[in-house]
Amino acid sequence: MPGSDRYTVIGHPIAHSQSPKIHGLFAAQTGQNITYDATDIAPEDLASRFIEFFSHGGAGMNVTVPHKQHVLPLVDQLTARAKLAGAVNTVIRLRSGGLLGDNTDGIGLLTDMMQNLSAELKDARILILGAGGATRGIVPMLQTVKPQRIMISNRNAGKAIKLAEEFNTEGNLSGCGYADLASKAYDVIIHATSAGLKGSLPQFPDGVIGTDSFCYDLSYSNVDTPFITKAKSLGCKNSYDGFGMLVEQAAAAFELWRGVKPDTQSVIAALRQNQAPE
Ligand code: ATR
Repeated sequence: MPGSDRYTVIGHPIAHSQSPKIHGLFAAQTGQNITYDATDIAPEDLASRFIEFFSHGGAGMNVTVPHKQHVLPLVDQLTARAKLAGAVNTVIRLRSGGLLGDNTDGIGLLTDMMQNLSAELKDARILILGAGGATRGIVPMLQTVKPQRIMISNRNAGKAIKLAEEFNTEGNLSGCGYADLASKAYDVIIHATSAGLKGSLPQFPDGVIGTDSFCYDLSYSNVDTPFITKAKSLGCKNSYDGFGMLVEQAAAAFELWRGVKPDTQSVIAALRQNQAPE
């Protein structure tokens, strides 16, 4: 499109990314003249291809697995939330020409859980399964809504304990292994491991999920994820995958780039329909 600003999402692999569709719908809805495509970049080519994109006039970029941590040294400035998360999912080219690294994953999750799905997070007892990059990205944002407790549980217990210590500014955060979890229902359970991508599940005790628990899987799929299947099998009435978070983190990035807030509900509905299993 002549005169349009160019955006891309980088990752490896990237072919199945929904981001071009999501941003295409946002642009059509808000009348913004942009192009947004997907760029597969192998880890060894990250620095050169990143620099090339912006030196050829790229206006902004989304960053996904496995590059989120590795673009940190490639930007000129970081927002506080990107610094805390230790990861960047959105790059903004500033008027000065400098590059700002931000992270909209945490706010995307909060918006989906609280606004779209009416989850009660204030004073809630929250369990996060997994202690990798995804958990690091969401914990600082969850702390802002003042939950009663956040327990981080992980296969490698030491990693969960270390992460909990690092973010324990409010004194309400702890870490443990799955076997150390008491078999007592949490109000909110967030699945943040990468096991789902491989079709497996972390080995947590069934009792942590109750019928009234709110279960959220950061992964998404056109069929129930293993975590959602498990939650449903335990009688949980409220279980959701991370598709809404995907759209909300994209909306936050779009607003940073274009200064207009897109409507997310219509985009979530349209893409869910396209995603439905045949
Ligand atoms: P990252 O680079 O974001 O940290 P990762 O190394 O794939 O991603 O791990 C993300 C999370 O998924 C970690 O909590 C990891 O657990 P460990 O720290 O114990 O490795 C978790 N994970 C990955 N595969 C898993 C599996 N099969 N069962 C349980 N947890 C798993």
